[in-house]
Amino acid sequence: MIMNPFEQKPIKMEDGIMDWATVYPTPYNKQTVDPYTKVRIILMNGIEVESTMFKHQFHRNCQNNDLRRELAMSRRIEQQQQKHINWLKPIDETQLETTIGYEHVAVDLTAWLAQNEPDPYVKQALDFALLEDFDHLYRYSNLLDLDSQIPAQKLVKSYVDITPGRPTIAEHRFPFDSVKNPVNFKTADIRTMLNTLIITSGEQQTMNFYMNLGNTYYNDLGRQLYLEIAMIEEQHVSHYGALLDPNCTWLENLLLHEYMECYLYYSFYQDELDTNVKSIWEMHLQQEIAHLHKAADLLKQYENKDWQQVIPGGAFPKLLQFHDTRDYVRQILGQQIQLTANREQYIPIIDLPRDHEYFFYQDRMNHDLNAVASHNVVVQHQQKYNVDYRAESETNPVQELTDRTTDNTKIARSPN
Ligand SMILES: [Fe+2]
Ligand SMILES: [Fe+2]
Ligand SMILES: [Fe+2]
Repeated sequence: MIMNPFEQKPIKMEDGIMDWATVYPTPYNKQTVDPYTKVRIILMNGIEVESTMFKHQFHRNCQNNDLRRELAMSRRIEQQQQKHINWLKPIDETQLETTIGYEHVAVDLTAWLAQNEPDPYVKQALDFALLEDFDHLYRYSNLLDLDSQIPAQKLVKSYVDITPGRPTIAEHRFPFDSVKNPVNFKTADIRTMLNTLIITSGEQQTMNFYMNLGNTYYNDLGRQLYLEIAMIEEQHVSHYGALLDPNCTWLENLLLHEYMECYLYYSFYQDELDTNVKSIWEMHLQQEIAHLHKAADLLKQYENKDWQQVIPGGAFPKLLQFHDTRDYVRQILGQQIQLTANREQYIPIIDLPRDHEYFFYQDRMNHDLNAVASHNVVVQHQQKYNVDYRAESETNPVQELTDRTTDNTKIARSPN
């Protein structure tokens, strides 16, 4: 059945306010939880953080206190939703175990979006960063096995492969090369608007998580690895944020944010296996439908625009349902490992001019290989166990990445 949230009868905005007993949830059981339940929780936490911070920025750029009061109202509920979701993480799940979940989100979400993205330029942006987050999953998994003797495959089950992607060391690029061309939301497919907003929010949460918690890891190598990968997430947030339409008004953007939240809660409500978590998705969906209708009213009142001018039709496109993307990721890895960024475009590393800013930046950051944590973590694992940690359903499709005894620091990085 096709769902149009504009046709649903909204609850009253204030009826979304939760008491303490409601907002503090019963956590999931880390032994029995389905990895996709964790994936949905991590993504929705990031979506709520984006909604909250977006509404703070709007508030600071708005002169009308009537409008600012409306933002304060729904923002308070976004904050409660964020707590309600983020506190589902149980006490006994460690920071690094949660981190494996973050990179699992990055891989499976990005792959799903890329497979369902009609705009080829946006799809290329997704495929490009997909291979980078895929490599982060491998690096953190090596840290987890090295420090705690926990195979990350236990956490992600067989939903995703753990093997090198485009090596993290090769991902460090000059800042100019993260700036991409924006999409025109006036003509874009609704899927493209949703996909770019969703992935930007997800990557932003990963950036925030690493930049805030990376320094709380208990040893130097781990702290260094978080620091390094946090810098790549800065690139990813720049890269995806660049795709968003800068010509959207604040109120158009508000409507899109609420629509995205409705779409995701509805999608995840359909799929959720954990009954407690499913009831949270259902409750939040009702709250978001109220936010959406309020945003449509505000758009009409302050800009004299109908919601149909922003979201034609209003019906949800194909729902976001996580599934096994291992074949897709392997295919993209085999085809695109050698790509790098050249301003707004993507080209094989061998086609980059030798005086390109990429090589300058690489030399500034990575001139001492022994100081690069993403490399060191694999080297230390190899020193201790002779091989790296990986969990593959098939061997890595890139021949240069099949050697488990040596970390490849050249591929997609060296001009030769
Ligand atoms: Fe929300
Ligand atoms: Fe990322
Ligand atoms: Fe909302």
